[in-house]
Amino acid sequence: MRKKVTVIGAGNVGATTALFLADKELCDVVLVDIMEGVPQGKGLDILEAMPVEKRDVKIVGTNDYDATANSDIIIQTAGFPRKPGMSRDDLLMKNYEIVKACISEAAKRSPNAVIIVVANPLDAMCQVAYKVSGFSKNRVVGMAGVLDTARFRTFLAEACDVSVENVTAFVLGGHGDTMVPLVRYTSVAGIPITELIDAETLDKIVDRTRKGGAEIVQYLKTGSAYYAPAASTVEMVESILKDKKKVLPCAAYLEGEYGVNGLYVGVPVKLGARGIEKIYELTLTDAEKAELQKSVDAVQELVTVLEPHLG
Ligand code: NAI
Ligand code: 2OP
Repeated sequence: MRKKVTVIGAGNVGATTALFLADKELCDVVLVDIMEGVPQGKGLDILEAMPVEKRDVKIVGTNDYDATANSDIIIQTAGFPRKPGMSRDDLLMKNYEIVKACISEAAKRSPNAVIIVVANPLDAMCQVAYKVSGFSKNRVVGMAGVLDTARFRTFLAEACDVSVENVTAFVLGGHGDTMVPLVRYTSVAGIPITELIDAETLDKIVDRTRKGGAEIVQYLKTGSAYYAPAASTVEMVESILKDKKKVLPCAAYLEGEYGVNGLYVGVPVKLGARGIEKIYELTLTDAEKAELQKSVDAVQELVTVLEPHLG
């Protein structure tokens, strides 16, 4: 029997994720959205691409969570990007309400699923999904680090003029300007990146990575990135559904790791059939620890605003 994945939110990230999942023939997909007709139309459109793509998968678009029952994975993309004039806290509360509503509907119908959170502010929304679902911490994971790392790898591969496949990198911390691209753990086919790129160029690439989301928004003006976010989400789905046990940077609930307690933060994890199967604790220098702490503080600030609502 084919695996089943629910994608909540049929907007840019959700619909593209559904398309990539189908195109990889990974699973049947249920696409859910609050807007009537949108998930149905996009779902049918993707389904009709399958004979051409030679893929046998079912895609269902719906406004009804009953169709999501017994999913192996629930992907939470529903939520809004920040609009001009909206404070971080406004976005936080708006998306808190959306994530709470969606996850409470989906989680009870798929009690054994792994939840992948995509909606922003990412780390805080993971906290919401974790609390609302009541799932164990290994089955609620956030997508951000794979995307941030993909951006870092793209820029590094360009600078070195090598295959993107050769570039291995890690980005730690929350999904925001304070994320920590770990230069010391970055290499090209095993060659430390510092042997290949001068410090000034490397600093510029680190800065561009931190602002990678904003760079796309600047171009698009009316929305944020979705092709790379969808591809990153699908890499996580594939690792879970195929029990590949890939080591990927993801938002995970920390209980003591990296000195952080009771908070979702981006760290390297092993992703397999049970969701997060291991959290890797890297040895950090004092400077890296300080950068990570800054990022953790930024996440904590948002979660503190939410805490009275989370119970
Ligand atoms: P979008 O605006 O294109 O799509 C959002 C969809 O959510 C819309 O179709 C809307 O109708 C739906 N929606 C709203 N309330 C809903 C509800 N209560 N139930 C079901 N559906 C509902 O936005 P886009 O570009 O797809 O982004 C989605 C979210 O993902 C945003 O919060 C964005 O900031 C975040 N994001 C996170 C990334 C990450 O790295 N974690 C990367 C890219 C986007
Ligand atoms: C990004 O990094 C908006 O979080 C989104 O592109």
